[in-house]
Amino acid sequence: MTSPRKTRVAIVFGGRSTEHAISCVSAGSILSALDPDQYEVVPVGITREGRWVLAGGDPAQFAIAGRQLPEVTAASGNTVVLAADPTATDLIVRDPAEGVSSLAGVDVVFPVLHGAFGEDGTIQGMLEMAGIPYVGANVFASAAAMDKEFTKKLAAADGIPVGPYAVLRAGVSLSEADKERLGLPVFVKPSRAGSSHGITKVTDWADLDDAIATARQVDPKVLIEAAIVGREIECGVLEAEAGGAPEASLLAEVGVEDHEWYDFEAKYLGDGHNEIPADLPEEVTRKVQEYARRTFTALDCAGLARVDFFVTADHQIYLNEINTMPGMTPRSAFPQMWAATGLEYPKVVDRLIRTALHRGTGLH
Ligand SMILES: Nc1ncnc2c1ncn2[C@@H]1O[C@H](COP(=O)(O)OP(=O)(O)O)[C@@H](O)[C@H]1O
Ligand SMILES: [Mg+2]
Repeated sequence: MTSPRKTRVAIVFGGRSTEHAISCVSAGSILSALDPDQYEVVPVGITREGRWVLAGGDPAQFAIAGRQLPEVTAASGNTVVLAADPTATDLIVRDPAEGVSSLAGVDVVFPVLHGAFGEDGTIQGMLEMAGIPYVGANVFASAAAMDKEFTKKLAAADGIPVGPYAVLRAGVSLSEADKERLGLPVFVKPSRAGSSHGITKVTDWADLDDAIATARQVDPKVLIEAAIVGREIECGVLEAEAGGAPEASLLAEVGVEDHEWYDFEAKYLGDGHNEIPADLPEEVTRKVQEYARRTFTALDCAGLARVDFFVTADHQIYLNEINTMPGMTPRSAFPQMWAATGLEYPKVVDRLIRTALHRGTGLH
């Protein structure tokens, strides 16, 4: 008897966003977690310039070595091409030494990419065109969750509390009425970004124009948000195995240590840790979990998401944002929250692949 063919998973990582290195580390963790008896893994790296290359399968190459962050390079000289042809679903490899070959029959893609050209619906659209199932949110949900304006609008329409904010499209500045409504301090942020890039906390209106200019270097559309004084609480959400309501994990409280807010340094360079489960009264925990599940559904997410909130001293809860491909490194909050909830890392990855295969492409 021949054993059934293994599921062929292409892990796509790296990419053109500022979160390139984090994506590489996440990919290495996923690679290590996949059972080789069950899965055949094809690691596909995207360089910072956007070139697709076939990477080696050794997870060690993706680790942080000392202070050296991993990076996808085009050193191997090969190129990987995915055709937008649903009758093919193969990856074409062009190698300078070995010529053109085909990696036929990719069953599912795990796009462990964060930010622009990865978490924003673009690669999801490409995979829909190609007819290959993929882990995580579809085109619409990815694009909506990437855009902090539409995240707030869709969530608020479903009764999830969001803080006061104003949207400044290209060329528009903040009105006096909005200044009065929002009050100081405000957070000025690009609508579609991540890793705290382009974000400034403004405590004096005289600094507003500079902050808007900084945000506009990333995105012409800028949000001005009233600063919320509270703790930062995150919740992991997973799509249900066999239909039904999504499930929420235990909560994490993000430690910003001696940083005033969760800026780039605090996120990646500090040794801040997540407190899991977050020390909150049971009814507040339950409410945050409910809002997390409802946000997931309001945006039509699939697979996984990490939903981030502010919780004030008097336990008011505000949605901050939702990430449809959260960090998956061993230090990341998402896998840690699920491990604390009873689902270890390999089980999470396994479940993500199974739900992706079950969902397939197209409308559902
Ligand atoms: N309205 C706000 N009130 C208080 N702190 C904020 C607010 N908006 C952002 N921050 C701080 O800035 C950090 C990054 O903002 P966020 O909207 O999560 O952007 P990113 O997508 O880059 O993570 C948050 O984790 C928080 O520390
Ligand atoms: Mg954030």
